[in-house]
Amino acid sequence: MPLDVIVGAQWGDEGKGRITDLLAADSEIVARFSGGDNAGHTVSVGDQIFKLHIIPSGIIHPHTTCVLGSGMVLNPAKLISELDQLSAVGIGVGPERIKISGAAHIISPAHIALDGAEEKLRGEAKLGTTKRGIGPAYADKSARRGIRAAAMLDPDQLGQFIMDQVERLGNVLIKLYNIEPPDPKAARDAYVQYAERLLPYISNTGALIAEALEKDVVVLAEGAQGTLLDLDHGTYPFVTSSHPIAPGALLGLGVGATHLRRVIGVAKAFQTRVGEGPFPTELHDEIGDYLRGTGKNPWDEYGTTTGRPRRCGWLDGVLLRYAARVNGLTEITITKLDILSGLNQIYFANSYMRDGMEFENLPEEPVQLGSFTPGYEGLSGWENDLSEIRAWDQLPQEAQHYIERIQEFTKIKVKVISVGAERSQVIRR
Ligand code: IMP
Repeated sequence: MPLDVIVGAQWGDEGKGRITDLLAADSEIVARFSGGDNAGHTVSVGDQIFKLHIIPSGIIHPHTTCVLGSGMVLNPAKLISELDQLSAVGIGVGPERIKISGAAHIISPAHIALDGAEEKLRGEAKLGTTKRGIGPAYADKSARRGIRAAAMLDPDQLGQFIMDQVERLGNVLIKLYNIEPPDPKAARDAYVQYAERLLPYISNTGALIAEALEKDVVVLAEGAQGTLLDLDHGTYPFVTSSHPIAPGALLGLGVGATHLRRVIGVAKAFQTRVGEGPFPTELHDEIGDYLRGTGKNPWDEYGTTTGRPRRCGWLDGVLLRYAARVNGLTEITITKLDILSGLNQIYFANSYMRDGMEFENLPEEPVQLGSFTPGYEGLSGWENDLSEIRAWDQLPQEAQHYIERIQEFTKIKVKVISVGAERSQVIRR
């Protein structure tokens, strides 16, 4: 029965990695179900910091089995370097612990080149992708000409597939974008080697998870990106090409809907976005800079994957309600509450306005977000440093009030609050 899903309730970068690490202590299988190395998940344990892009954050706990599900797109070179980095710090990353779905898709050098070329052609209208080849790899998957991870079981055949694909997309790169394409033979040779290394990891992950659920073993699905980046339900076209919302976990792992137990929405205590697209509560002033930080601390708001400064703003309650709806959230985790310390007033968007009308719920698809102005309520801030606090009743009253307001507005219980980047810096309720 117990499939627990962690999803981003905003535009990604909510701190899902550290919450996955927290819940992985009580889970046997931790699985990624969407996206690829466009994600960046950071886990801090003592003075060690792990930055993961492909492998689930649950890998830090030695008892877990980690699954890369069918909904993912994988860059094998990046995956191998992540395996090596983890192995170098003593984390077990053998095929007995990591299982790759044969139905996941492979990102090729041509996908990466195409991602960059398409962004360049869009000019001012660019999406701000991570340029990891994510969109083109999913496009090939949908067009039924993608290459699945199972092809790695025969490295020479995989090499041939990759060479053919790089040749085909190479023509597009030259003719449509006037860009020098990657060398097909070099790509083939590299991918044969990647396949030789990764083939022991290919597994029937759907069956593995089904068997675990049958035995009542807890399976934790780790979302990447966030609700508003969902291909169907996000701020299209400023979205990623997969389904980071909770139903995406069922699809991207091959699990039946009756197994869902908890759906944990992770939201920052404020709002951030990296890349282009509408953002109603965005701040372009010194408070936005305050929330972002200078970039000196590992937790400052600069992308884990691309290093880009994130756009920052006040927490958007209307979008949080929307996230609760499309994910079916059973609980919320609020991260980075400590960052709000030192602000006299905190604002919370409790409505949207347009043409003299006020809305408490998103009246249209998020595509229309740019046409609304947020309505705010002001709450008192607090001075105290929260980083050493571990119990709810030790939080300043103003911080308690802020959390209670989020809870009241969304009608979803806030069960975990993080007050720092380190594994232990959490308050459970
Ligand atoms: P893509 O996923 O690289 O195609 O990028 C599409 C959009 O999703 C861009 O706005 C990216 O900045 C955003 N995006 C992709 N992955 C992440 C992530 O892990 N965190 C935050 N934004 C992301």
